[in-house]
Amino acid sequence: MFQRCLARLGAAAQSQGSKALTAEGRPFALVDREVTAVKEHIHNLVVNTHNEVLDHAGKYALAAGGKLMRPALVALMAYALLPAEVSARLMKEPLGCLDEVTPGTLLPFLRLAEVTELIHTASLVHDDVIDNSDTRRGRLALHKIYDAKRAVLAGDYLLARASFYIATLQVPRIVVLMTTALEELTSGELIQMDGCFDIPRYEQKNFCKTASLISNSLASTAVLANPGNDALEQVAFDFGKHLGIAFQIVDDCLDITGDEKTLGKPKQADMKEGIATMPVLLVAQRDARVDAAVRRRFSEPGDAELCMEVVEKEGAVAEAMQRADEHCRLSIESLHKLHPSPARDALEKALSLVMNRKS
Ligand code: FPP
Ligand code: MG
Repeated sequence: MFQRCLARLGAAAQSQGSKALTAEGRPFALVDREVTAVKEHIHNLVVNTHNEVLDHAGKYALAAGGKLMRPALVALMAYALLPAEVSARLMKEPLGCLDEVTPGTLLPFLRLAEVTELIHTASLVHDDVIDNSDTRRGRLALHKIYDAKRAVLAGDYLLARASFYIATLQVPRIVVLMTTALEELTSGELIQMDGCFDIPRYEQKNFCKTASLISNSLASTAVLANPGNDALEQVAFDFGKHLGIAFQIVDDCLDITGDEKTLGKPKQADMKEGIATMPVLLVAQRDARVDAAVRRRFSEPGDAELCMEVVEKEGAVAEAMQRADEHCRLSIESLHKLHPSPARDALEKALSLVMNRKS
């Protein structure tokens, strides 16, 4: 097992793969080695020799397509939070075998990065059932390969494995943070299902559905780096929270202005699904016709067209992007409470990647 692991890590070191690492400006370049190692190892956490569907879930759901933003953020935050001399040493040291979580090495952080990606993937498997999406990450959605019942169980299996590996870190505070993220992911999806007709409700949904997993995994990173330091845990949490919220607002804007080919999904899908996004909710505050369309979830003919027209006329996409920008400012404000370091700079650059992304 150890030899196989070494071989995999060798391949990982040579590989320049992963979409996250080819992003403009490459803010994640500092953790190329770590993200590639996670990408190569994560399958091992979900191998299942007893059941084809479960085994497929792991292989399918974690294969190539993901951007691996969450593992990259965890690895960067680890380097940003550890004392400078420890980070410098760990960056030079071989990573070791990802089957282990040896204390004092980077391995517990990489396990946390893997767990975060597993939870994200499980939520997408369930999300595709809920949204009845045909594809995910450029391939058939799992429930289209099997069926909805099996896909739900496969998502549960990924969650079960994630929970098991959270426990192997043996840090009760991390169990609290990561299970809070699980709960909030679920309530975020339910808030969306019930409808967000105003900005406070939208922001609640946005935090739960998108920002909670990022912020709680980064808070967990702080717990591993500096056990018992509540202030640093809060800094890491706030950085992730505002980054996650900005990420979702940009997503909303891309749904309106993005290029379908680059996005890999149809434009204006949100309104077709009855979902109100930030630009639409901004104009709904001052246009009663848009507000009514939002509240009936764009169900009448012409609702979506009217909303688009008002969004365009009022420059609401730019207004929404300003809100995302404000969250980036808050995220940076949090980050600047940490000592300066290359990892801190990279986390700051990750924010501009979030703001400038095209897909
Ligand atoms: C993508 O949404 C979905 C999420 C970010 C979270 C979905 C959460 C659940 C289904 C709750 C269950 C949670 C767990 C932990 C299993 P989207 O439809 O807006 O984005 P898409 O275009 O990528 O589908
Ligand atoms: Mg979806």
